[in-house]
Amino acid sequence: LPVVDAELEQRLVGRLARIEELLAEHCRGRTPYVTEAATHLMMAGGKRFRPLLVLLAAEAGPTPDAEEVHTAACVVELTHVASLYHDDVMDEAALRRGADTANARWDNHVAILTGDFLFGKSSELTADLGPDAVRIQAQTFTRLVEGQILETVKPGPDEDPLAHYLEVVAGKTGSLIATSARYGAMFAGATPEVVEALRAYGEIVGSAFQLSDDILDIASESDTSGKTPGTDLREGVPTLPVLMAQASTDPADARLLELLGRPLTDDDEHAEALDLLRKHPALEQAKAYVLGQATEAKQRLTALEPGAVRTALESFADVVATRSA
Ligand code: FPP
Ligand code: MG
Ligand code: MG
Repeated sequence: LPVVDAELEQRLVGRLARIEELLAEHCRGRTPYVTEAATHLMMAGGKRFRPLLVLLAAEAGPTPDAEEVHTAACVVELTHVASLYHDDVMDEAALRRGADTANARWDNHVAILTGDFLFGKSSELTADLGPDAVRIQAQTFTRLVEGQILETVKPGPDEDPLAHYLEVVAGKTGSLIATSARYGAMFAGATPEVVEALRAYGEIVGSAFQLSDDILDIASESDTSGKTPGTDLREGVPTLPVLMAQASTDPADARLLELLGRPLTDDDEHAEALDLLRKHPALEQAKAYVLGQATEAKQRLTALEPGAVRTALESFADVVATRSA
C-alpha cells in the first residue's frame, strides 16, 4: 500500500477484502474445471493494483463506498487477469506470481478460453454499471488488444523505436489503469474535472507501471518478482532499458548490441546479455525516466483539493515508479 493516513488505510483494507470476496465469486463457472482454471491465476496473489487505484480515485468523490465503485474494481481486475491468461500464451511464459501459468499447468487452449471466460464475467458486471461504463470498457478492451498487437509488429524504418514502444505500453497497460482511476472517480460521483484529471493521472501512472515492470524484467531476481528474469529479453520483446542501451554509440557496447540484435535462445548468451544490461547506464536512465513520469502524473492531481486523498495518490505514483516487485 502507498503511504496513506491511518483512517483511509483502514477503509481501503476493508474494501479490498470485500473486493477479494467478490472476485472469488466471479471466478466461479458452471463446472469445477472452469472454476479451477479461472481461480488459478486470480488467487495466485496479485497486487490488486487496479482495484486499489479504483478505490483511491473514488476517495476523490462524495460516495467512495458506493456499490458501483466495488463493482468497477472487480471489472478492472477481471479484465486484467483475463488479459494475463492470454499474455502468458503469447509470451510462452511458464511462471507468473510465483505459480505455474495456466498454459504451463494445462495448455494454451485452456489458458485462452479461461481468459475469455473471465473477460465474459467482467463484461457481465460492466453491464450493471450502465451504458457509459460499457462504452468505456469496450474502448479500453480495444486499446488493450491494439497495444498487444502493436507489440508484435516491429517499428517501421522511419519510426523511432522508443516512440513505438511507448505507444505499445500506453495501449496494453496505460489504458486499463486509466480506466481504473476514471471508474473510481466516476462512480464515487466526482466532478467531470476531477474524473478527467484522474483518468489522465491513471494513464501516466499506468504506463509508468509497465515501464517499471519492464525494468524489473532486467533488474530483478525471480525470488522477489515471482517471474523468470529476462523473459522479455529472451523473447526479443523491446523494453525501455534495452531500447535505451540500443541507442548507445559507445564502442564498448559492441558486444551487448550484437547480442541484442538477435534472438537470445542460447542460455549462456542470454545470461551474458542480462549481466551486461544490469551494469549498463541505460538501466539507470530508464529508472530516471520512470521517476519523471511519476512527477508528471502527480502534476495532474492539482485538480484535486489538497489533503489525505491527494497525498495518497501522490504516494501511489511514487510507489509505482520505485517498486521492486
Ligand atoms: C502484460 O505485459 C500484458 C498486458 C498488460 C496486456 C495483455 C493484453 C492482451 C493479451 C489483450 C487481450 C485482453 C483480454 C482482456 C482478453 P507483459 O507481457 O509485458 O508483462 P508480464 O511481465 O506481466 O507478462
Ligand atoms: Mg508477459
Ligand atoms: Mg506480453
